[in-house]
Amino acid sequence: MTYEKLTVAEARKAEAIGKDVLLQGWVRTRRDSKAGFSFVELNDGSSFGNIQLLISKELPNYETTVKSITAGSSMTVQGTVKASPGQGQETEIEAKVVELVGAADPATYPLQKKGHSLEFLRSIAHLRVRTNTFGAVARIRNRVSFSIHQFFQENGFFYVHTPIITASDCEGAGQMFHVSSLNPDDSPKDDAGKVDFSQDFFGKPSYLTVSGQLNVETYCAGLSRVYTFGPTFRAENSNTSRHAAEFWMIEPEIAFCELEENMEWAEKFLKRLIADVLQHSAEDIAFFNEQIDKTLIDTLQHVLSSQFIRLSYTEAVDLLIQSGRKFDYKVEWGIDLQSEHERYLTEEHFKSPVILYDYPKTIKPFYMRVNEDGKTVRAMDVLVPKVGEIIGGSEREYQLDVLETRMKEQKLDLEAYRWYADLRRYGTVPHSGFGLGLERALMFLTGIANIRDVLPFPRTPGNCEF
Ligand code: 4AD
Ligand code: MG
Repeated sequence: MTYEKLTVAEARKAEAIGKDVLLQGWVRTRRDSKAGFSFVELNDGSSFGNIQLLISKELPNYETTVKSITAGSSMTVQGTVKASPGQGQETEIEAKVVELVGAADPATYPLQKKGHSLEFLRSIAHLRVRTNTFGAVARIRNRVSFSIHQFFQENGFFYVHTPIITASDCEGAGQMFHVSSLNPDDSPKDDAGKVDFSQDFFGKPSYLTVSGQLNVETYCAGLSRVYTFGPTFRAENSNTSRHAAEFWMIEPEIAFCELEENMEWAEKFLKRLIADVLQHSAEDIAFFNEQIDKTLIDTLQHVLSSQFIRLSYTEAVDLLIQSGRKFDYKVEWGIDLQSEHERYLTEEHFKSPVILYDYPKTIKPFYMRVNEDGKTVRAMDVLVPKVGEIIGGSEREYQLDVLETRMKEQKLDLEAYRWYADLRRYGTVPHSGFGLGLERALMFLTGIANIRDVLPFPRTPGNCEF
């Protein structure tokens, strides 16, 4: 007899009924009934749901093999897909041949029973993808990544690979990880006794990038619509549930585009990601709605159907002051808004995504376009309920003289950024872009409250396990 190799997802569909199939995966549970059968729940990650195997005690290797199939074991089964009499599943497998591939010792396998805490699962990040929650997160992360490319490709954007190693600090916050091939115990020193980076691999200090923006802007000034999507690194020592030292960022950059159009792109883009997971990851999203956040689907649908609120920084500050609310960090014009302020606006006051724009120039990087008031820049942050800032972006300063003044104000080495200034020297155009943190988007889309649970292997202060 020949067996068709299917995934569990395929075998769970009614179309598979009647087929002789071969399935492989990992066992979630085995239960032995008195009626001469064992039931095994098999999962191969292809879908949220398992498939049930019905294994008769008449199988020749029942005592020798089937009895040693425990949670976490890997196995192969050949059998026939039947319509399932049970509720909640269309099909099940009547097993004909069962083979144990790799056993999992029940005395030590950590995922015996259901309902481990997310904190505990972080300590076994190498095994946690075998749980309902982390399997679903992994599939949604994949789906969202795919949608990101689809959205930009359908809109005429080109994907650009920007470097991971860089000598420039795009955000100017000094939160860079050094990249060096010098021996830290025996590094060459200059006359002042400082490390002599001229003898380092690149002949100068270099770092892991905090953003691909500066590089992607160069490609924008030639390809018009571009985006980069890659890992970014920040050595910010903030141990919060929303910051990781290594995260993935999507950064589109659009030529001949001012801030208003940039906001439109950001809103359209986020809505597309929401619509796609609701449509294509329905089973996983239903699980998150049930187990993680009972308001998830309502929130996503609400955001999808509403216009994002647009509010200037100055209006937001007035509103926060007038709210009468006691914040830990006092609100006054000029401060960098804290998470408590952002969350008040998006979660309590507007109960909707909010795009804040025109921030004080003193709290924003050198590359943002200066407004006519001379005090604010054409920055925008998109805030969403439960996550806060999900997108940060701006219109870029495209006038050479203004850009150079800003660089001097922020004490940047003009020579080091000469290539960036060249874009303003030769054929400059108004242009804009933004950065979406992939993990912040995933937190929003799944309801998961800690960034450590949407990254396969989170890197945070003091933690570089696995
Ligand atoms: O607001 P940020 O710092 O903006 C930039 O890096 C710009 N260069 C983007 C651009 O205009 N091309 O970061 C953008 C987004 C934030 O809104 C947030 O979603 C995410 O990146 N982000 C982080 N996510 C996780 N952990 C961190 N430490 C993050 N820092 C920023
Ligand atoms: Mg930001």
